[in-house]
Amino acid sequence: MSSQVSCWVLLVVIVLLKFTVVAGGAYDDQTKVHIVYLGETEHDDPELETAVHLGMLESLLGSKRDASESMIYSYRHGFSGFAAHLTDSQAKKISEHPSVVQVTPNSYYELQTTRTFDYLGVYQSNPTGLLRRANLGEDIIIGVFDSGVWPELESFNDRELGPIPARWKGRCVDGEKFDSKKNCNKKLIGTRYYNMDSRISKTEFMSARESDPHGSHVASIAGSSFVPNVSNHGLGIGTMRGGAPNARIAIYKVCWQGSCSDAATLKAMDDAIADGVDLMSLSLAKSIPVLTETSKQNGISYGAFHAISKGIPVLCAGGNYGPSAYTISNIAPWIITVAATSLDRWFPTPLTLDNNVTILARTPYKGKEIQGDLMFVECANEITSATKDKVVLVFMTRCDNLEETLITKVAEADSKALIIASKRVDAISVVEFNPIVIRVDYEQGTVIMKYISSTSLPTIKISSAITLIGPLISTKVADFSGRGPSSLSPYVLKPDIAAPGVAIVAACNPLKPGAESGFTAESGTSMSTPVVAGLVALLRAVHPDWSPAALRSALVTTASTTDPYGEPIFAEGLSQKLADPFDFGGGLVNPEKASDPGLVYDAGAEDYLRFLCASGYDETSITKMASKTTPYQCPSPRPSMLDLNLPSITVPFLKGEVTVTRTVTNVGPVFSFYKLIVEPPFGVTIDVAPNVLAFNTYVKQLSFNVTISTTHQANSIYYFGSLTWTDCSHHKVTIPISVRTQKLMYFNH
Ligand SMILES: *[C@@H]1O[C@H](CO)[C@@H](O)[C@H](O)[C@H]1NC(C)=O
Ligand SMILES: *[C@@H]1O[C@H](CO)[C@@H](O)[C@H](O)[C@H]1NC(C)=O
Ligand SMILES: *[C@@H]1O[C@H](CO)[C@@H](O)[C@H](O)[C@H]1NC(C)=O
Repeated sequence: MSSQVSCWVLLVVIVLLKFTVVAGGAYDDQTKVHIVYLGETEHDDPELETAVHLGMLESLLGSKRDASESMIYSYRHGFSGFAAHLTDSQAKKISEHPSVVQVTPNSYYELQTTRTFDYLGVYQSNPTGLLRRANLGEDIIIGVFDSGVWPELESFNDRELGPIPARWKGRCVDGEKFDSKKNCNKKLIGTRYYNMDSRISKTEFMSARESDPHGSHVASIAGSSFVPNVSNHGLGIGTMRGGAPNARIAIYKVCWQGSCSDAATLKAMDDAIADGVDLMSLSLAKSIPVLTETSKQNGISYGAFHAISKGIPVLCAGGNYGPSAYTISNIAPWIITVAATSLDRWFPTPLTLDNNVTILARTPYKGKEIQGDLMFVECANEITSATKDKVVLVFMTRCDNLEETLITKVAEADSKALIIASKRVDAISVVEFNPIVIRVDYEQGTVIMKYISSTSLPTIKISSAITLIGPLISTKVADFSGRGPSSLSPYVLKPDIAAPGVAIVAACNPLKPGAESGFTAESGTSMSTPVVAGLVALLRAVHPDWSPAALRSALVTTASTTDPYGEPIFAEGLSQKLADPFDFGGGLVNPEKASDPGLVYDAGAEDYLRFLCASGYDETSITKMASKTTPYQCPSPRPSMLDLNLPSITVPFLKGEVTVTRTVTNVGPVFSFYKLIVEPPFGVTIDVAPNVLAFNTYVKQLSFNVTISTTHQANSIYYFGSLTWTDCSHHKVTIPISVRTQKLMYFNH
């Protein structure tokens, strides 16, 4: 219990750290907001606690008046401490006070941005960091293919921006409720719409103006300007910005009421290439990876092939059809496919039982504190007038309970709230209104149930949700995030990379119920994709000569398999486990490292055409695919699918031994020497030749062979490993390896 309490206190400190920033600000140049943490409260009387805090400040600053002017907050309930404006020397002095546990300046949070990019280590305050070196992405044009845009949103202001890059050839197309003169600016530089073969509802605008709220959210994640004081119903307060806050945004409206036709998307991608976008972000996915995925009939993969042939990277959502295997979408090897993780931020609702046990429920509830008698019911039909004014606990597993039925019953019975114990999911929709439905997992439900049976008059207190940020909140690949492998293209590891996509606060069409403030939190690979798009915009700015494959390689080989605090990343899903490459590809994106990867696994359009040859496509389709005027001829014999120069190796059908070739290009210091580190998958032997690489003025590119052999006697599941090239400096170029032994096959391979 006591260790639980201290965790709780630590979390609250972190929460308050964040809030003080919002309150702080202009005081005196010499002072900064400091958090003075005193540990457990000593006095039952909060007023007395505050008096003690003021007394401490008074003896430090010399007068009562200075003390009360300096103090911002007194923390006196869960723990004791205060936030005050202090100079560094005053902070040092007060830290020596015997009752002070810790004094923390909050300068770290002064440039509070959407949590997403802080979490990924991209700070504007870092003068040598990627954001500054990329000039905030000012010269980069991000093409966003989605449901359009709400141009009046603050995220699309152009106050900080210089002239539109002269090479831009796109334009803003006028239409219904969309006046390009008024609605476009130096941020929103292009708006086109494509309404072919889509059913248009009455609420749609015949223009790039968004009716279905999705496009603005996505576009703002990639490239929103700075917008201070943004929150999701008061949760997650801070300054919002996109990954590349000064990048220009070109909107291609291809989705109408949630449906985006291939034909429209392909046409839009074609226009975007001519317009001069620098990268494309598509938060679109198909429910079932259909057989035509890599063929010419799939708009996105076909359009993406042309884009990458012209040097334009294409980022696509891995889809929200997880957590089962084989649910990954957008599997073409030339696309950067993005998975979604949670952040180190959480908006749980504290549920306090009468025995002082507090449970953090996953549903964020915003509203007045609710206090009431607690009652357990087995089945929906027990929710009757007897549960009026009570808080009802129910388990989903019992009596085939259906959520809708439970919610209707609770509303009819006029119960105070409904607590549903069900499988673990990260609920993010904020609950504000009746009936109040709070979700807990089975373990938490069991704690509540045990409490109910332990007392004659069980009661519960439901407090308004809190914001928790920091190292205690583990990072997880989201339940919904699409998972590899791909049954269609098992030789290509997908997804490529993961980024935050859970409860991402960004701009929202104010017509959406609950988003009147112009902001909302959403979850999906739709959100993680523009996170990476914003980062790719920055990488493009610092490395304009890198190919799309080089950019992808830089992201994958430097990605982190732990969270930013060094803790493991888990995968939510059918059961909890450590995340593996089928959940997150190379891992969680690490933008600063990606800007200096050392080596890249490069590839170009010709390599992908050879891969299609290897995959058995006929030459006529490949010729069409590549829009070649002369017939394309596959090499004879056809190459191996394993040899496409991807920053990953995945061997789906290993019988005995196979050799795979990879080539790395030095993009680091000219004279570089790399050593090998291999972590072989379980039961697999890996030999690499050569096992050292030396680069110099003449040697920029080197190949190596990876021989993979199995010791398994029977068919195995996929096992995972990695191959890393490391130099004497800070470069670590790691690719994931996945290998499945298939001794017994019902078809020849
Ligand atoms: C921030 O927003 C909140 C609610 O929208 C508002 O009450 C508050 O005054 C704002 N603060 C600043 C500094 O603009
Ligand atoms: C719960 O906490 C309150 C206030 O700190 C205290 O008065 C009460 O005795 C505690 N109850 C139990 C069961 O520990
Ligand atoms: C890789 O193996 C192939 C086939 O055995 C061989 O021709 C090639 O020279 C090897 N490459 C390297 C870098 O060792």
